[in-house]
Amino acid sequence: MNKRNEFEVNPIFARSGEVRRCHKYKLSEAPMLPETAYQVVHDDAMLDGNARLNLATFVTTWMDPMAMKLYADVFDKNMIDKDEYPATAEIEERCWRIIADLWHAPDPEKAIGTSTTGSSEAAMLGGLALKRRWQQARKSAGKPIDKPNLVMSSAVQVCWEKFANYFDIEPRYVPISADHPTLDGDVIGDYIDENTIGVVAIMGVTYTGMYEPVQQIAAALDVIEQERGLDIPIHVDAASGGMIAPFLQPEIEWDFRIERVHSINTSGHKYGLVYPGVGWVVWADRALLPEDLVFEVTYLGGEMPTFALNFSRPGAQVLLQYYAFLRLGHEGYREVQAATRNVAEYLALAIGQMEPFTLWNHGSDIPVFAYRMTEGHTENWDLYDLSNKLREDGWLVPTYPMPDDMSDVIVQRIVVRNGMSLDLADKLLDSLRSAVTFLDGLDSPLPRSGRTTTTFSH
Ligand SMILES: Cc1ncc(COP(=O)(O)O)c(C=O)c1O
Repeated sequence: MNKRNEFEVNPIFARSGEVRRCHKYKLSEAPMLPETAYQVVHDDAMLDGNARLNLATFVTTWMDPMAMKLYADVFDKNMIDKDEYPATAEIEERCWRIIADLWHAPDPEKAIGTSTTGSSEAAMLGGLALKRRWQQARKSAGKPIDKPNLVMSSAVQVCWEKFANYFDIEPRYVPISADHPTLDGDVIGDYIDENTIGVVAIMGVTYTGMYEPVQQIAAALDVIEQERGLDIPIHVDAASGGMIAPFLQPEIEWDFRIERVHSINTSGHKYGLVYPGVGWVVWADRALLPEDLVFEVTYLGGEMPTFALNFSRPGAQVLLQYYAFLRLGHEGYREVQAATRNVAEYLALAIGQMEPFTLWNHGSDIPVFAYRMTEGHTENWDLYDLSNKLREDGWLVPTYPMPDDMSDVIVQRIVVRNGMSLDLADKLLDSLRSAVTFLDGLDSPLPRSGRTTTTFSH
């Protein structure tokens, strides 16, 4: 009689690979069948929240089936292998040129750009160019270069805090307030001096989704230049808004139409509508990107300039970005973004009409809005409790304090993305209403200790 191979036992969960526990923090001695390993990893990941119900993230959680097919075809491409994958390299260039055009680069021939892993890397490249240009100008004027600073709102995304920390730049945060919920140029002059390498303006503030008035900020900098002779450039962090404003608010001048705007970043994986792993940064003119930051890599037997923090990284998302551009075109992007904003405004209106909530904004800039508890509604529960309650239905809705100077204000934020239909929005409202009914029915305050909080996803 044949001795039965232990791996032949079915069903899968009775096989030896499943019967024993897997090593979690060291490599196990023995191999495992691929089906077993697949099942183990798949099942671990099953305990994550459902990505489509994750209203904390800005990052794409739905693409169409042809995009999935393309993804599967090209996931082995390394973006840095420009010599080996010249077609992918060319598509990368087509993408940033399309984006430069969307952002009104004055002379598209002179613009320069690159893909990145996301907006964080893209922002750092923009910031590094500002720093190097400032250093060069100071050196040629015989002035010290040891104290660069960067001026931005206190509501910047954490990537700017990292940038300042990693690259030895003093961050100067202009506090937001109830009267000035975004950086608007109001007191900016107090923060600027000869060591300021630039100002960051945000198109789609992470905390609330609001646009900062880039034109107004630029006008304030014009006055500073006239009065103090300081010519301060702007980098626009358009992580989300960079792929919304060109389609939904084409009349807002926030991009390269403003001369002071040297560079702009966006996340292809947010409202660029591509799965995680791609960002973009573009400079209006290659003269704004100091040459000594650019490295040459071999490309088609020649040399190709690259400016990046990573070396290897996936090329598939760049190809997916091009797919999305071809698939949707201008009209398609406008329709998708308008539908998404429509859902955001619908939700904001409905939530704003509920007594416990007071809207911070209405989801009309990017399709994102925040709200706080209406003062005096109850002492029995707060927005953290509501986040926890919504989790019971699978919804991930973050609650967090606003940045410094307003950190006593606690808000909850909803990010609406492509894939959130009006039907799904109604389901969210159902969950929200029944959560509120339950919480309002409590006759004593929920204990403060032991509450878990929903993290603030950027
Ligand atoms: C304004 C802003 N900048 C930068 C980032 C970082 O983007 P990424 O996650 O693509 O690195 C975010 C992310 O939410 C953001 O909202």
